[in-house]
Amino acid sequence: MSSPRVLLLWRVLVFMAALSPLVYWSTQVALQQAGPEPGKYLLLGFGLCALVILLLTLSLTPLSKLTRWKGFTLIRRQLGLWAFFYALLHLSSYLVFILGLDFSVLLQDIARRPYVIVGMLALVGLLVMALTSNRWAMRRLGKRWKPLHKVVYLVLALVLLHFFWVVRADMTDWAGYALAAVALMSLRLPAISTRLPSLGKRLGLR
Ligand code: HEM
Repeated sequence: MSSPRVLLLWRVLVFMAALSPLVYWSTQVALQQAGPEPGKYLLLGFGLCALVILLLTLSLTPLSKLTRWKGFTLIRRQLGLWAFFYALLHLSSYLVFILGLDFSVLLQDIARRPYVIVGMLALVGLLVMALTSNRWAMRRLGKRWKPLHKVVYLVLALVLLHFFWVVRADMTDWAGYALAAVALMSLRLPAISTRLPSLGKRLGLR
């Protein structure tokens, strides 16, 4: 299960799966199947996709503890970068479709939608992680790398707050994502995370 060929195939599959929402939504827009507001369709889709990939990234460490399969840790950086990429597309959609690239109205728009600031802070957190996810930065940061990457928890909280602010009228979807986030965070508590390997053994996963 961990031969170099299998791991390469796994990485390629993850790459294709991560790319597929972009291809699908772009096709829908090109075919005029994206509803009356294609810009908003892309904006919301990209934002949601960034959040889902962020949650998937956070599930990889518990999964690798449960199964001891190398493949999960191998794609952690790749998925983290995809979350950042979709967040950038989300920001670009905001700048193009909501602001119409007219930066003079940015402050006015932020006053109308204060949750944009929260989204921007989350994006800065993702940027810091993306910039420090390479070997060079890991070597330079040494012991400080791990505490720095705990910023992902803050990013997740900010994204959930941002999302909550947007959908206050109907929180059904938001509650599902928040529940998933709480479940993933609980798996990281030392009392639970240290038990994952033995649970994996009992379930025949490792
Ligand atoms: C510069 C940063 C950001 C800006 C300017 C921004 C802007 C926006 C706007 C304008 C909306 C939609 C509001 C509406 O319904 O009219 C939105 C929704 C959303 N954003 Fe952001 N955002 C930012 C960062 C982020 C980040 C980093 C994430 C996730 C990693 C994210 C996830 C979401 C989600 C999940 C929604 C709700 C989607 C839905 O209702 O289906 N945003 N954002």
